[in-house]
Amino acid sequence: MDTFTKRLESAQIAFNFDDLMLLPGFSETRSRDISTDTRFSTNIRLRTPLVSSPMDTVTEARMAIAMAENGGIGVLHRNMTPEEQSRMVGEVKNHEPVSKNATRGKDGRLAVAAALAPTDIERAKMLSKEADALVFDVAHFHTKSILESAKKIIDSTDRDVIIGSMGTKEDVMHSVKALGRVDGVRAGIGGGSICITTDVTKAGSPTPFAVAQAADAIDELGIDIPIIADGGIRTAGDIALVFALGADSAMLGFGLAGTAECPGETITMNGKEYRGYRGMGSKSAREKRLVNDRYADTGGKNFDEGIEGLVPYKGGVVDVIDVLNSAVKASISYAGAGSIAEMAQKARIARVTGRTIKAEIKR
Ligand code: XMP
Repeated sequence: MDTFTKRLESAQIAFNFDDLMLLPGFSETRSRDISTDTRFSTNIRLRTPLVSSPMDTVTEARMAIAMAENGGIGVLHRNMTPEEQSRMVGEVKNHEPVSKNATRGKDGRLAVAAALAPTDIERAKMLSKEADALVFDVAHFHTKSILESAKKIIDSTDRDVIIGSMGTKEDVMHSVKALGRVDGVRAGIGGGSICITTDVTKAGSPTPFAVAQAADAIDELGIDIPIIADGGIRTAGDIALVFALGADSAMLGFGLAGTAECPGETITMNGKEYRGYRGMGSKSAREKRLVNDRYADTGGKNFDEGIEGLVPYKGGVVDVIDVLNSAVKASISYAGAGSIAEMAQKARIARVTGRTIKAEIKR
């Protein structure tokens, strides 16, 4: 066995967003001609590379409709009964797509994904009737028991299946090999704005690092599975950066929280409007008990892995999507690429040093 000192000295560098930047590159495509076409999963194409997170303060039917209408996709959260969630799937499916950019499923109707626990066979059956994709929604997918139960669901459904969350190359290599069919990988553990998993457990995988690890695993396996970067994404630049590391789309919680399409009431305080945003491992989200199995499998599940709070009300999500998407195009252009696929091939990344950080100017 290696010595403990060796273990210490060979610690990997798990880069996070603030550690990295994109270097400018020769650009042949004008910003407005840049394509953000991509895939969410093997069979679902997106015109906008944005995915709304399965959180109960972010994605219910209204958000899923808005996301798909605007070329992205929503993943319905699972902190509700399978009946309620299936009804929401139906609501999205029955919405007539208006925009030509709308994301559609094989059935030609608006596309929608739905989160579930890898043990929830009954929910999988109900969701498989209409949802286009099933998203296994656990903080740490790579465990023996989860692989065994997920395999049963995968073998019983014809829907696209997304596995996650994944933090390392080994997580992805072993899970994909064990499961046979996988249509998407959700990468990043503990990096979310409302996550305290890493503070509490010291375990996690920052999203840029997790994405690069997943992309290498997929390359090494010689297969073609889209990667969804998830957790801690705040800006369009963060999104472009994960494309440079091999991601195909970006999942947002905080980035969409506070918009009109999120579930929940608007709260007015001192003349300003706010909406609630909470981690699915926060005390209040877990009180419903339907999401308890998402977090550390300690039997008792008696500690929090997320926080809750308020975010400023942002108005309609369409504006948020539009602004993000044009800024993502600008980032891609700065990096000298013309598309998301080209980002993976061409973009160059630099490490941020103390000197890169600008002086604070009061505005
Ligand atoms: P952002 O940064 O977009 O992150 O708000 C959203 C992602 O965070 C994850 N998530 C959690 N992780 N405890 C965690 O450790 C939690 O309570 C929690 N709730 C959500 C999830 O991957 C989501 O997409």
